[in-house]
Amino acid sequence: MVAVGKQIEIDPLPAVGSNMFYRHPGRAYPVAERARGVWIWDRDGKRYLDGSSGACVVSIGHGVAEVRLAVLDQMERISFAHGSQFTTEACEEMARRVAALSSDPELDRVYFVSGGSEAVETAVKLARQYWRERGERDRYKVISRWTAYHGNTAGALALGGHTGRRGPFQPLIMHTAHIEPCYCYRCPFGRQPRRCRLECADALEQTIHHEGPESVAAFIAEPVVGATAGVLVPPPRYWPRIREICDRHGVLLIADEVMTGAGRTGKRLALEHWGVHADLVVLAKGLASGYAPVGAVLTRREIHDAIRDGSGAFVHGHTYGQHPVSTAAGVAVLKYIEDHGLVERSARLGRVLRKRLEPLRDLPIVGDVRSLGLFAGIEFVADPETRAPFGPDARVAQRVGRAAFDRGLVTYPGSGGADGLRGDHLLVCPPFVITEDEIDLLVDVLADAVRAVARDLGR
Ligand SMILES: Cc1ncc(COP(=O)(O)O)c(C=O)c1O
Repeated sequence: MVAVGKQIEIDPLPAVGSNMFYRHPGRAYPVAERARGVWIWDRDGKRYLDGSSGACVVSIGHGVAEVRLAVLDQMERISFAHGSQFTTEACEEMARRVAALSSDPELDRVYFVSGGSEAVETAVKLARQYWRERGERDRYKVISRWTAYHGNTAGALALGGHTGRRGPFQPLIMHTAHIEPCYCYRCPFGRQPRRCRLECADALEQTIHHEGPESVAAFIAEPVVGATAGVLVPPPRYWPRIREICDRHGVLLIADEVMTGAGRTGKRLALEHWGVHADLVVLAKGLASGYAPVGAVLTRREIHDAIRDGSGAFVHGHTYGQHPVSTAAGVAVLKYIEDHGLVERSARLGRVLRKRLEPLRDLPIVGDVRSLGLFAGIEFVADPETRAPFGPDARVAQRVGRAAFDRGLVTYPGSGGADGLRGDHLLVCPPFVITEDEIDLLVDVLADAVRAVARDLGR
């Protein structure tokens, strides 16, 4: 049995002779060889159920022929055209489809990049330049939340609120204001849900006051927190209150929908669950389902027009923005989602997944089960009564993730949700094409993995 509180070795040693700089250089990774639907096979023939769509990416499932053919067709016509010189049919069509994700007709201009972090940085720079174009040159601050994840580039990392990820790079990242997250299981204001006064939303208004409203450009947050805390779904009044506060002070609302966008939560954009529209929406991951690296910022027409009619150019740009092959893949993915009713399927199967996951609450180390659509999180605790988290050295989420992986189930474990360092959770977010039988299998394997780790921990 493994003792709690000790650093344990859960990863085998890597293969010798590789030139790869792996994410965890001390770990051995199986060689993924092929994939179809929700299944991945490695070179040794072992089969894995992709219970987390990689890292919440592969929304339409693996191996969809329509996407492959769209990519090949685009490559035959033209593989690269630089955004400073050309537009292409692929990116024009992709922009139309991304704009159609929102029910707000004013959100209709799309700026393409290659991933989530780039898209976050793009949104922030857009917000800043917008205010300069409008003559409000003092507006530059961006407020964000603790326990948030916005990416790993220096600007996005600064806006994120994960102590463990920020820590090593503190001297390199800018200092910005953060407010408490909306985390009902661990309410930062000590409230029970029925006594909630939305202090976490009002904290935005207080912080805007402290910073000086005339200096605040934007507020950025994930509609439902994913990677850092395992699916934090705010109560019904949270997002309308945040929108109200932003409007009162002229602050732009940036919704980071990198994980939640394009159908993951059972709506095209997650904020639509609250009937709220952002001014800028950050998208990536599921947008092209991992078939190509695509990120995007969907922006209010007024922001675009202020730049067009002002200085005339957004002072920004990346070589692979609006890449023809990537956007062709994105078009095929978004078309597939619409043609197969996958957003509605995510909502329906999300309810099935939630029902199947609920009994896991009875396992000794499970504290909470949360979800919206096919976006589910399980939080592990040392003591379900007091909700005390495990120490970081116990690596409980990683161990559950590894136990599941050994059993052929891919999940997305994370830590630090409780206080930046402590706290363990796991994301379950399978492709939207998963069947009910596959959900049953997923939950059975996961429960078995949790039980095994609980046993190891002496629970
Ligand atoms: C909410 C959110 N924003 C931004 C990012 C960063 O995206 P990327 O890894 O594509 O840079 C992520 C990645 O997990 C994310 O979950």
